[in-house]
Amino acid sequence: MRIDMVTLFPAMFLGPLQESILKRAQARGILTIFLHQLRDYAWDRHQMCDDRPYSGRVGMVMKPEPIFRAVRTILAGESAPVILLSPQGERFTQQRAMELAREPRLLFLCGHYEGVDERVREQLVTEELSIGDYVLTGGELAAMVVVDAVARFVPGVLGAANGAHDDSFATGLLEGPQYTRPPVFEGLAVPDILRSGDHAAIARWQREAALRRTWERRPDLLDQADLDEADKVYLRKLREALDRETK
Ligand code: ADE
Repeated sequence: MRIDMVTLFPAMFLGPLQESILKRAQARGILTIFLHQLRDYAWDRHQMCDDRPYSGRVGMVMKPEPIFRAVRTILAGESAPVILLSPQGERFTQQRAMELAREPRLLFLCGHYEGVDERVREQLVTEELSIGDYVLTGGELAAMVVVDAVARFVPGVLGAANGAHDDSFATGLLEGPQYTRPPVFEGLAVPDILRSGDHAAIARWQREAALRRTWERRPDLLDQADLDEADKVYLRKLREALDRETK
């Protein structure tokens, strides 16, 4: 996959892209990420990329000309999703990450200041994404979040043994608790069943733990999750136990 990042602050990406899994994916040639300084596409003497809004509101708006030039030059006639990061965008989800991972190429535009000239949205942007209902100082951190989540679904980025398929959300449920050695730490023991060697019982325990965690923390997810009869029986038991407690 090829990713082009258009930003006023390319150095913000260096840390996250030069560590761990994203570093390895680039070294293996699975992922190629180009950082483009937007200012290089502003051809006036001061390389201005922002200007005052016509609305008279405070703050600055990103000018259209450098952005149009950057996107047209970088894509050079090829087509690719052009993704603007902004708090006004559609909420980014694991589902969207999986879909974007199928694209051979993505271009990200990192917004700054009070926003971008609307003509960029109208003519260039194919989708606008928000990573949550809060306002960041710019789109860079949001773009990194999206790239990281998308990259996990690009074949070869994660090792086969720890693929993205049992993650929280991938199954429609949050992941349940995990344990590793030692079996007892400061008097706190790993649940016996996990050490029993009974694989079917362990799988059932993990499924119920995931159901319980989702029910406690994100009950909204249960409406969409793929649940079998045993899951539904277990959830009914949880609800009945809660009813008894609150009576
Ligand atoms: N830019 C500023 N805030 C943002 C957010 N929440 N998501 C995406 N881009 C942003």
